[in-house]
Parts: sequence; C-alpha cells; structure tokens
Amino acid sequence: MEKKVVNILEKYNQTHILNYINLLKQEEIKNLEKQILKIDFEELQTLYEKTKEKPEIRENKIEHINYINKEKLSTKKKQELEDIGSNVIKNEHYAVITLAGGQGTRLGHSGPKGTYMLNTKNGQKYIFEIFIDSFKKAKTEYNIEVPWYIMTSKENHKETVEFFENHNYFGYNKNKVKFFMQGELPLLDTNGKVILNKEKQIKEAANGNGGIYESFAKSGLLEEIKQKQIEWIFVNNIDNIISNFIDPLLLGLTIQEKQKIGAKSVAKTNPKEKVGVFCKIDEKPQIIEYIDLPEKLAEKKDENGELLYGEVNIGAYLFNISVLEDLARIKLPYHAAFKKSAYLLENGEYIEPESPNVYKFESFIFDAFKRYNNVSILRVKREEEFAPVKNKEGTDSPETAIKLYNAKL
Ligand code: UTP
Repeated sequence: MEKKVVNILEKYNQTHILNYINLLKQEEIKNLEKQILKIDFEELQTLYEKTKEKPEIRENKIEHINYINKEKLSTKKKQELEDIGSNVIKNEHYAVITLAGGQGTRLGHSGPKGTYMLNTKNGQKYIFEIFIDSFKKAKTEYNIEVPWYIMTSKENHKETVEFFENHNYFGYNKNKVKFFMQGELPLLDTNGKVILNKEKQIKEAANGNGGIYESFAKSGLLEEIKQKQIEWIFVNNIDNIISNFIDPLLLGLTIQEKQKIGAKSVAKTNPKEKVGVFCKIDEKPQIIEYIDLPEKLAEKKDENGELLYGEVNIGAYLFNISVLEDLARIKLPYHAAFKKSAYLLENGEYIEPESPNVYKFESFIFDAFKRYNNVSILRVKREEEFAPVKNKEGTDSPETAIKLYNAKL
C-alpha cells in the first residue's frame, strides 16, 4: 500500500486492514487505497469515542406544540387554505422528494423497498408504482406533472434507477423523475475498527435520512429546482403507501402561518405507543422519541382530554426551498445504532453474526427542525394518510398497510 495510506491507517489505529492485503488483487488494493483516502477518519474517531460516553442528562424544557386538526377545520377555512396551496401546485412551484436510501432490514426484502410488491385490491403493485399512481392522479387534477426526486444510497442506487427504466417509469414522464445518492459512513466494530465487506472494501452504510440536505445540494438538484422556481418541497418516506404528498391543505396552512416548515401528524393512540411525537424543547420544535418522553408527560392531557404530547411524527414534511438552502452546509449530529453486519475475516471467511456487532451512524432529517422557531403541524387521520410497510409481519407490515390502502380505493 502507498505510504500515505499506511500513515493514515497508523494514525487512526486501523492497521488491521494491512492483514488483508494477501487476499486482495492489485486492483482491489488500488480501490481500497482510494476509499481510505476519501474517508474522514478524524470524524469517525470522534463518533466512536461518543459511543462510549453516557448520554448527557440535561434538564430540557419540554413543552407542547400547537397543531391544527384537519377534522376540526370548517369547510370554509379548509377551502381557503386549499386554494392557497392549489395555486402553488398549479403554478409548478411544488416538488416531492422521497427518502428511499434506507436498508429496509426489518422488511427483509432483498432489493430497494420501493421495488417491494404488494397484493392490492387493484392487483399486484410495486411500492414505487403506488407512488406514481398519485403523481398521475395529480396530473389529472392540476394538469401539471409534479417533479419527483428520489434519494437513494450507494447500496441501492443502480437497482432503483434500473427498476424505473425497466418499468418505463410506470407511464409517468421520465424527465420528471430524478435520483440522487445520499452519503455513507463506515461501520465500526466495538473496538472502533472498520470492517471489510465481501468485495474486500471497507464496509460503509447510508448515513441516515438527515443526509438529504447535503446530498440534494451536492447532486446539483437544489440548483435545478431553484432555476425551475420551485418554492415548496414535500418530503416523505418510501414506506408509507398512502402518503398524501400532493396536498394543498398543508401547503396553504404553512404559507398562511408564515412558516418555512410544515409537517403532518396523526394522533397517538395511547400514552405507551412507541412513537416519536412533535413537541418543543427549549422553545424549539423537535421530535421526541418515546424513550425520552417522561411517563408523566406522556400521560398528560389537555382540557379536551387529548394527549398533550400526542402528535405522532409520520415522516411527512414540507420545506420551503430556503430551508434546503440553509441546511445544505449544516452538519447534523449522528446517532449511533448497534446493528448486525456481516464481515470478512483475515483468512477470507465471511461471517454472518448472530447478534449486533457494529455501530452504524445516522443523522435524522428532523434534527434540523430546532434551527427554526416553529413548524406548522397538520393532524390528519391515520387511516387516511399513514400506512407504513416496515416489518415483515405484525404491526406496520405489508398486511396492515394493504388493508388501509384497499380501504381507500
Ligand atoms: P427507517 O428508519 O424506517 O429505515 O427509514 P429503513 O432503512 O427503511 O428500515 P430498517 O430500519 O432498516 O428496517 C425511514 C425512511 O428514511 C429512509 C428510508 O428509506 C425510509 O423511507 N432512509 C433511512 C434513507 O433514505 N436513508 C437512510 O440512511 C435511512
């Protein structure tokens, strides 16, 4: 290996990589060297050190966040807000970004989650196809083709693009569908060492859906949408098969409330439901995970008997383009998750561990919300807008999601 590469490995205690050299062909060594030169080992070291720290206990001021319940809006008010939103959509100032860079480990499907096929009342449909159906519906309704940007990861980019090509974009205008790849970070074992994958390269994984801000800008698409005079971007998850993502109501609400970020929520079913909810922490909008919400607060109700911390985050956000510009250069914090990941031994054996063995570092899209004073929140009905496909079976599985999807047909 080149001296400067060895120096890096020595500096960051990663010289175990040199023990693999005998397994590698000349070209694989070259690729590995290139990869090592690109990795920010300084950052990785800091991230690893953080996994050893006990979480800092801070007395944060957690408060309720205001929201608007769609069900309680008068017909007149709803119409007024929808008119504001419809104008934006009709004038082609609206686009959609779908986060599809995840690994979908819980679902256990071998390809990108969007290529998962569901048996609906309307026949077999891929998740990506279900999304395209909504774009086609909007085309009929507004007489425009809303642009769709899909965030992929290195792991699934090629397969995602090929899937759309092979299915002829399910009859949608292919020029309106673009892909961009999010960033990656190496996985680290419990000693802070990088591991190698089957291809004898350092094993990296998508760096979380918070990677959207940096990668969308880097891809050149932020500049493109600016030129197209797109002002509002709806961001959703690939696994919500009834996501109502071309919705003039949330747009109208966010514009009228003079906010730069909007979000949809559904009502938490009971204080113990394991979900993240919107709230304010130290006066800034945030999402608090169930594990961090003190039981006393989780059970607190307002004067109408509704949970005070009851607005569940469903991963449906609306951003003004200025937000994507502001956040393009911001570093979001990484959260470490301890996961299972196969790795190569120095003797060439490929090991599939039975229990978690590596740290994976991810940033979350909503960690950026606290940079703003407020977020417009629209509570919608769960059965109308939230049917996630997360798990192979049980809750939030294809079975539960299809039921909700079929009920809406
Ligand atoms: P999840 O947190 O549910 O992760 O992602 P996942 O990868 O789909 O599934 P598991 O946890 O491995 O089973 C929520 C949304 O964020 C996207 C996912 O594609 C999904 O739409 N995501 C997640 C990314 O785009 N990139 C990531 O690095 C992680």
